Amino acid sequence: MMKLTADELRTKYLKFFESKGHAIISGASLIPENDPTVLFTTAGMHPLVPYLLGEKHPAGTRLTDVQKCVRTGDIDAVGDSAHLTFFEMLGNWSLGDYFKKEAISWSYEFLTKELGFSPDQLNVTVFAGEDGIPRDDEAIAIWKSLGIPDERIFPLPKEDNWWGPAGTTGPCGPDSEMFIDTGKPACGPECRPGCHCGKYIEIWNDVFMQYNKTADGKYEPLKQHNVDTGMGVERTICMMNGYPTVYETELFAPIMAKIRELSTARPADEEQAVRAERIIADHMRTAVFLLGDPRQSVKPGNIGANYVLRRLIRRSVRYAKMLGIEPGYTAKIAEVVIAGYKHVYPELEQFRETVIGELTQEESRFEKTLAAGQKEFDKVATALKTHGQTQLSGRTAFKLYDTYGFPLEFTEELAKENGLDVDRAGYEAAFQKHQELSKQSAGTFKGGLQDHSVITTRLHTATHLLHKALKIVLGDHVAQKGSNITPERLRFDFSHPAKMTPEEVKRVEEIVNEQIQRDLPVTLETMSLEEARQAGATALFASKYGEQVKVYTMGDFSKEVCGGPHVTHTGELGGFKILKEESSSSGVRRIKAVISNMQ
Ligand code: SER
Repeated sequence: MMKLTADELRTKYLKFFESKGHAIISGASLIPENDPTVLFTTAGMHPLVPYLLGEKHPAGTRLTDVQKCVRTGDIDAVGDSAHLTFFEMLGNWSLGDYFKKEAISWSYEFLTKELGFSPDQLNVTVFAGEDGIPRDDEAIAIWKSLGIPDERIFPLPKEDNWWGPAGTTGPCGPDSEMFIDTGKPACGPECRPGCHCGKYIEIWNDVFMQYNKTADGKYEPLKQHNVDTGMGVERTICMMNGYPTVYETELFAPIMAKIRELSTARPADEEQAVRAERIIADHMRTAVFLLGDPRQSVKPGNIGANYVLRRLIRRSVRYAKMLGIEPGYTAKIAEVVIAGYKHVYPELEQFRETVIGELTQEESRFEKTLAAGQKEFDKVATALKTHGQTQLSGRTAFKLYDTYGFPLEFTEELAKENGLDVDRAGYEAAFQKHQELSKQSAGTFKGGLQDHSVITTRLHTATHLLHKALKIVLGDHVAQKGSNITPERLRFDFSHPAKMTPEEVKRVEEIVNEQIQRDLPVTLETMSLEEARQAGATALFASKYGEQVKVYTMGDFSKEVCGGPHVTHTGELGGFKILKEESSSSGVRRIKAVISNMQ
């Protein structure tokens, strides 16, 4: 196999598609412009959405570029061989020009002729058909005509082989993904491309964009048939050079070396140590690119993209502690990242001072909180040991969370290092107790605001987000059966035949929290019920024909007929947590939930 650097790969890709009639265009900022549906540019297609929807692109109908991307959906997988929060995507697009045959044939030609992958290493997936959309037999036939045998063509459901939209609405369609077989043994009889064991690494995706997903979840056929492809730079050079993980590539090697140089301790568990190094490298690289973005609009903070950046930096700091890395390290690692990328992304050099300054400031802010929390932890741990006890109380774990920003998992890690465990149930109970206390103090300050107090208004907004999230996770049969809000919690009854699984509860919480982090604007319009229905609004109660109703819209996420009032931005809710999911009556479930801004 050919050895290739990232620089060579970028050039080779652009030249190849230029030779196939594509115009080379510049990649865009990591922060989308005028697009409330996503926090970051998550794919090369993203800045091209208007053109995929039919607008004319000044450079023509065949385009190619390299795009910086940030995706945090897989953040928990970071630390394995190939999942990253920042990556570079090579892409080629057809805007109503060529379609499946050319796209797949060129992918195959580039992989085998230009990059020198053996056709035998190639495994591909195609859309198996679902929801009335047929199996992609055309893609199967094209792969076969190129010599890929049946046993290496995998038709998979929508969950695997459907791409997009990037946010909640926009262009999307069936795709065909290309995987390199690393030669590792299969993890079991079910192992196939898409399995996370590391045998198959996805490096490229050809999306056949034939649909536009609308705000009410419908798939409208697009006027023009587009192709959107994306190849991962880090993964491709990793595979080409035969490295076991992306962290050995020249893009990461100097960052990893710096982390090792700065480390003064190593957890006994080697797997944990390696994971910590990789998480620091990944998160720091992403933080540098966000802070060094030409748009200069993201700074560590509590809402939306700013919050994601804060989380990345703080998570990295926590792992740095695990490796005994001294404070002040973020600047040192940032220097290495900038040095490795400035010839491709000169903005990093241009904004070097901001990058280093913001990182250092955020690191030291978090250090102070952590140090105070550590002191508290040590005090408690010493007392416990003196008394021969082995369990840290839920109340202490909650205090560490509430006052010092220690996530429960972090406290658990610390506890483990000290031969202690944490009373998880006690932690949950303390969390609820806290909410009750908030209720009392809210009651004290409620005064004349009564039901329209700030907190109930926020909880009311949270109810809309919850309603929509339940529909997404459980299905469209979910309908509101009742709602009751007090200053200490919301209660929401809805139709659903079964107890929700813990995964479903978690997913609903995640979706609501995502919408809070996106800080969606909440807007009010008055219209007739018929107009509201046409606009895709959920309407609970029948009203007289022609009667004017109020419609509250939360960004692109939710639209409901409702009397209000609501907050003006979802970020005001702070965070969302489900306390309980239980039966209300036959076929009706009940959720009790709180938000973090209860005061
Ligand atoms: N948009 C598709 C993806 O992200 C192809 O680039 O996989």
